[in-house]
Amino acid sequence: MSIYQSPFPPGAAGVSLTACMERWPDETEHPFFGRKPGLTNTLAKRCVIPTDRALPINQVLSATYPFRPYNISAPQIGRDLMSLAVAHGLPAYDTHMDKFVIRGGNPLLGTIRVSGAKNAALPAMAAALLTDEPVILENIPQVRDIETTRKLLAAMGAEVELGYGRAQHRTTISCRNLTSPEASYELVKTMRASTLVLGPLVARCGRARVSLPGGCAIGGRPIDLHIKGLELLGATITQDHGYVEATAKRLHGGEILFDKITVTGTEDLLMAATLADGETVMLNCAREPEVADLADLLNKMGARIEGAGTSTIRVKGVDKLHGARHRIIPDRIEAATFIIAGALTGGDLNVAGCDPHHLGALLEKLNEVGVKTARTADSVRVMGDNPPKAADMVTEEYPGFPTDVQAQYMALATQAEGTSIITENIFENRFMHAQELVRMGANIKIEGRRAVVRGKTPLSAAAVLASDLRASASLVLAALVADGETIIDRVYHIDRGYEHIEEKLRGVGAQIRRIGEILPKKAAAPAARG
Ligand code: EPU
Repeated sequence: MSIYQSPFPPGAAGVSLTACMERWPDETEHPFFGRKPGLTNTLAKRCVIPTDRALPINQVLSATYPFRPYNISAPQIGRDLMSLAVAHGLPAYDTHMDKFVIRGGNPLLGTIRVSGAKNAALPAMAAALLTDEPVILENIPQVRDIETTRKLLAAMGAEVELGYGRAQHRTTISCRNLTSPEASYELVKTMRASTLVLGPLVARCGRARVSLPGGCAIGGRPIDLHIKGLELLGATITQDHGYVEATAKRLHGGEILFDKITVTGTEDLLMAATLADGETVMLNCAREPEVADLADLLNKMGARIEGAGTSTIRVKGVDKLHGARHRIIPDRIEAATFIIAGALTGGDLNVAGCDPHHLGALLEKLNEVGVKTARTADSVRVMGDNPPKAADMVTEEYPGFPTDVQAQYMALATQAEGTSIITENIFENRFMHAQELVRMGANIKIEGRRAVVRGKTPLSAAAVLASDLRASASLVLAALVADGETIIDRVYHIDRGYEHIEEKLRGVGAQIRRIGEILPKKAAAPAARG
């Protein structure tokens, strides 16, 4: 099922291409595309063509391609179908063009619910590669990175069932036959966390071939520490044509000292070590709750891990892991985003279904800036009746202030009395949102890894561009307090990690809607002059 909804109002819209294409799962012979794994899904995500004039999709396809287009790429077919719809006088919609339109000024009031943690769900899905029995994961957020991981695992031969209806947050992954232990560039370039399959694949299959991720909007993100750790566990590593290949008859235990704290690096090697021969000791590990959650799942699968969530993890390797059922922890970054939204808009917001223990650094910082919060075991209420005061902030590894909340905190700092200095210690280039905030009226100067934010400047609506997942979130927050209607472009970034954010925010009083780019009807040919 697609996470995208048809943007056309009910009645006006006919059948979306998504719905039509779903009748042909990738494995079956498609009447027009033949066997093209992945193609129909890619198309389904990209195009929504309303067929309110009862233009059946088969007719659209057969008109476009009288012959089977074996050598045509999905984006090309997408573009062709869009032009065809336009030629038929139908508005055509490309989901990659989604925008948010946000009118600022409303305080957020009421209760907003937090979804499962994307960054815990991704390694949990990769962990299913370690066993030939089904792994059932609950509280999986419906976000695009999950869909990308489904494709990644399916391309290796895994059966990944994403739930529907009431079970829509459950996925069952069965990796009985892994035919192709590879992660292609096509997938890795859209989601760097794809490299999480490296460790489990080499541990289970004895071989893994994974594309190197390359650069990224938030800075260089090498995977040298994953590779070094696997070598220590006995894997032979080669690199060519942009891919890293790891092979090992069986990994063996060893002592891994991380030069630098890495979250997915710790997770990757933790998974690899579960099936290694002997004991592995990992030092200077990431202590993020997502690492502890992964270890919980692995232990349910029969692994013998101690110390996850601290900087030293010990793993006693076992011969085999089995299936398990596991509930993913709540998303602390989504919770933090909503808490800041409540404070920023001067609202009274109950952020429900989160784990306040995972939010310590943020709650302390909010206390320092004068924002009142109250917590229960699984919720945080934020009361934004006091205007915030400026306070410096430094991002650090957990339990420090998360880099994934830096952009959102910057939006808050623009509305605080005084000057806040924000230091980004984890990534080298994670200030792309600053210039967009400046376009909305913020006073921010970037000096290397520091941003100097002088508050409190009124924000005014503007057309702005989202550059990565958390940058998009900060622009949404700024727009909620800006004067007028802000348009945020490229919200596909936010769809990677926030589940139905516009619906959730609307539910607590925000004025936010999603629009697609509706291509204009083709102009009628000018009448010939007599
Ligand atoms: N690093 C290396 N070598 C490595 C690995 C990391 O030098 O082999 C460096 C990175 O360049 C960076 C630092 O170590 O400067 C920390 O990177 P880390 O490996 O911890 O980041 P990650 O595992 O790739 C995860 C989250 C990110 C989050 C960071 C930091 C997932 C799937 N991703 O990334 O989440 O920002 O940890 O907390 O868990 C997001 O959700 O928006 C996001 C980017």
